[in-house]
Amino acid sequence: MTIKVCLAGATGWAGSALAKAIHAAADMELVGGVSRTHAGRQLGDVLNDPGMPLTLSGTAAEALSSTCDVFVEYTTPEIAVQNILLALEAGAHVVVGTSGVTDEDLRRIDEAAAAKKRGVLAAGNFALTAVLLQKFVEIAARFIPHCEIIDYAHAGKADAPSGTVRELAHRLGRIRQSAQDVPLEEMQGPSESRGARLNGTQVHAVRLPGYVIAAEVIFGMPDQKLILRHEAGAGAEPYVDGAMLAIRKVGTFTGLRRGLDTVMELGA
Ligand SMILES: NC(=O)c1ccc[n+]([C@@H]2O[C@H](COP(=O)([O-])OP(=O)(O)OC[C@H]3O[C@@H](n4cnc5c(N)ncnc54)[C@H](OP(=O)(O)O)[C@@H]3O)[C@@H](O)[C@H]2O)c1
Repeated sequence: MTIKVCLAGATGWAGSALAKAIHAAADMELVGGVSRTHAGRQLGDVLNDPGMPLTLSGTAAEALSSTCDVFVEYTTPEIAVQNILLALEAGAHVVVGTSGVTDEDLRRIDEAAAAKKRGVLAAGNFALTAVLLQKFVEIAARFIPHCEIIDYAHAGKADAPSGTVRELAHRLGRIRQSAQDVPLEEMQGPSESRGARLNGTQVHAVRLPGYVIAAEVIFGMPDQKLILRHEAGAGAEPYVDGAMLAIRKVGTFTGLRRGLDTVMELGA
């Protein structure tokens, strides 16, 4: 059976690599693509790949007027939630790659997905090493009470913390609230210097030229520490395989799942 896919953000850094993979896959068909600046143009012309005969739409609403099985959201947090709810309303399952979607928005999305009996798979990071980081962090948190997260990205990344780090904090929060020997309200100096408390863990975001994207979780114990770090290079390829797996699996459940590992056989 061919999975009909509509891709919002088809001309973007992450979306264009995914568009090419969907186009090349025997079990998928790219039936819709969204980009404001290239609306009305052929995706193949924009991506310099003439074998892709798909006219781009300027909005998700317009693209969703053609039936699709799976809608992929790969744009910006400002428009993502609206797009996801529209896609669910149109009867599509949804894969969310866009970062910056809040826990509260995800709760609304979960309710809408359950009501429509559709699946939503939201993954802050589709790269295999990031997925493994999530699993290893969950194991470590069961044994080590103190941890903090550092979120590194390039200077132009507008959202903080990243989707990867939001997801890490969400997972840690399900296991424990990270211990704090000096409560935040008793700290001296600017409280922001201790970062933001997200789902019970301190999160520090660094946005500097020279970085691409990395997430580091530091677990500290007396006289020992464990540092787990995922680091990505400049290409979008690491995210393609995970997003393709998400597209293939999102129709197998209803409601929201967070993290690619929820559809992988990772054990632990
Ligand atoms: N989950 C993961 O593994 C993963 C991996 C990489 C990136 N990301 C996240 O994915 C998102 C996209 O990243 P990117 O680096 O690909 O960004 P990008 O290069 O800026 O691409 C954004 C895409 O979305 C479109 N877009 C932006 N605003 C839109 C709007 N209001 N309506 C319709 N289309 C819109 C853009 O086209 P127009 O400007 O022409 O509209 C473009 O096609 C970010 O949130 C990023 O953090 C996640």
